[in-house]
Amino acid sequence: MSNNIKISTELAPDGQAYKTVTLTNKQGMKISFCDWGATWLSCQVPTAGGLREVLLGCHSLSAYQKQTGYLGATVGRYANRITNSTFKLDGISYQLTPNQKNHQLHGGPVGFDQQRWQIISLTDNQVEFELHSADGDQGFPGNLTVTAIYHLTDNNEFKIQFYAKTDKSTPVNLTNHAYFNLDGDGSGDARRQTLSVDADQYLPVDEDCIAIGGLASVTVDDMDLRTPRQILDNFSHSAARNRVKGYDHAYLLNHHHEVVAKLIAHDQKVAMEIMTNKPGIQVYTGNFLAGTPNRDGKTYQQYEGIALETAFLPNSPNQANYPQPSCILNPDEQYTYHTTYRFITK
Ligand code: BGC
Repeated sequence: MSNNIKISTELAPDGQAYKTVTLTNKQGMKISFCDWGATWLSCQVPTAGGLREVLLGCHSLSAYQKQTGYLGATVGRYANRITNSTFKLDGISYQLTPNQKNHQLHGGPVGFDQQRWQIISLTDNQVEFELHSADGDQGFPGNLTVTAIYHLTDNNEFKIQFYAKTDKSTPVNLTNHAYFNLDGDGSGDARRQTLSVDADQYLPVDEDCIAIGGLASVTVDDMDLRTPRQILDNFSHSAARNRVKGYDHAYLLNHHHEVVAKLIAHDQKVAMEIMTNKPGIQVYTGNFLAGTPNRDGKTYQQYEGIALETAFLPNSPNQANYPQPSCILNPDEQYTYHTTYRFITK
């Protein structure tokens, strides 16, 4: 293995040291990760003014354990909420471990963000993590093996490839929960950024972020992001956004274009394009970020970062009629989903 791996002096909840890795490219872009949760810790992109940190992060690895915002974490086995922590598959009802009221959020109390992943291979621009999730883990059926390959190109693209295999049919929905502030971590309100999402439909939700009434047109209640829009634009105007203090909504991607979403810094010096083969994207404006430890040893305010989580629609194990591929992985199949974040800088 190359020497871009570091053993931290801090100990993870399993009593062993955290391992961190850093990938670099020819343009000087640097991204780093931790084996705990296969967490994306840092993303420094080259601008004319020097490297700019565009990812929210905590001041120490142990501080990550003191937050519930899933900063940079790999979320699984099922990202977002499964309503009432239950679903039925092949005639069997499964009871999952709840962790938000009676619902399961982001894979449960000991989701993939709270587990140590093994580093399988490492080069200057690629790291491969692996995790085994046992049959019954957080209530899910089947022994599941998950691989996350993180690759940095010389074109300032970061590509995440997720693969998974199971020995029993199970829902799988893996994503990364990074929060972006392209004006720079710590620069303030991330809603000054401009966002576009290639989606005609989104999922309206109630105060607990549980879907109400199925997919709706983005033109309903001012949720349209099809043309670039400053996130602050009419922010408190829509009832949909008011119910959850901002954007916390799944959009069903049209896949009309290669780029499904684009975020642009307020100062225009950094833009990020997202490409993916996943059916949807969760747009979350950090409505509950307040109190999360930041890099300065203080805490973040609400709305200091935007999460753009490519995923299946929330609660899909209970919604066979959503117009998307099935989120159920069967033993003879391989889960193969990828997301690329392309950074364009000045
Ligand atoms: C969810 C939010 C939740 C947050 C936790 C997001 O993916 O959509 O509702 O509060 O994760 O950090």
